[in-house]
Amino acid sequence: MKILFIGDVMGRAGRTAVIERLPRLREAWKLDFVVVNGENATSGMGLNAAHAKSLLEAGADCLTLGDHAFDQRDMLQFIEQEPRILRPLNFSKVAPGKGARLFTASGGRKVLVTQVLGQVFMKRAFDDPFSAVDTVLRQHPLGGMAQAILVDVHCEATSEKMGMGHYCDGRASVVVGTHTHVPTADAQILPGGTAFQSDAGMCGDYNSVIGMEKDEPLRRFITGMSKGRFQPAAGEATLSGLYVETDDRTGKAVRVEMIRDGGRLSQATP
Ligand SMILES: [Fe+2]
Ligand SMILES: [Fe+2]
Repeated sequence: MKILFIGDVMGRAGRTAVIERLPRLREAWKLDFVVVNGENATSGMGLNAAHAKSLLEAGADCLTLGDHAFDQRDMLQFIEQEPRILRPLNFSKVAPGKGARLFTASGGRKVLVTQVLGQVFMKRAFDDPFSAVDTVLRQHPLGGMAQAILVDVHCEATSEKMGMGHYCDGRASVVVGTHTHVPTADAQILPGGTAFQSDAGMCGDYNSVIGMEKDEPLRRFITGMSKGRFQPAAGEATLSGLYVETDDRTGKAVRVEMIRDGGRLSQATP
């Protein structure tokens, strides 16, 4: 199965890139299943229903969220009506929506998607992501109930993300990190057959501080005082993600490629 994961969509620039380029990427890479992290798609803070619909219409089969899951109030209701949107598995026991779901791709193939929040350097304490993922993976054996399994590990620390990759190695097709908005250059297939990248990077304008206009974050770093609100940077976005090809029988990854499309990030060309 051919899977594309797109990292945190940042504001209008990120949405525009996904809406304009995903149909072409779907065609060019002959994608069977696309997962998009939408936690910053609305003004950099959360995802509203209208923007969720536009990303789904552009070709996303599933949208994941993150620590900003419910920054936009209408997501509290919309996530209950739209099963293609997942919030983190360990967000809160009372959060609406689901943190894992089995999707059906072409040919009836089953794809499990789940997302967990990490605990290191995060704003508040979330439940243990390792035991949360373990429960879901035990319920959905790779190559049995699910032909492919994607885990979005949403956190700050690369160490925690790598730990999650190894914890899921052989039990998931892909473990991919989100949240830092900066892609890491460590895409690989782990020894047990799980494709891994510490962070997919954002889909946003990289002439910014992690997707926000530079002035306000710089002011806060330099003076320790805030003056205005953070605004998503509006220049052309680089669409950043991870392409993974899996063996339908075993569910293991056979190919992994980092994707960077458009905008400022350099891409190797022969
Ligand atoms: Fe994010
Ligand atoms: Fe986040």
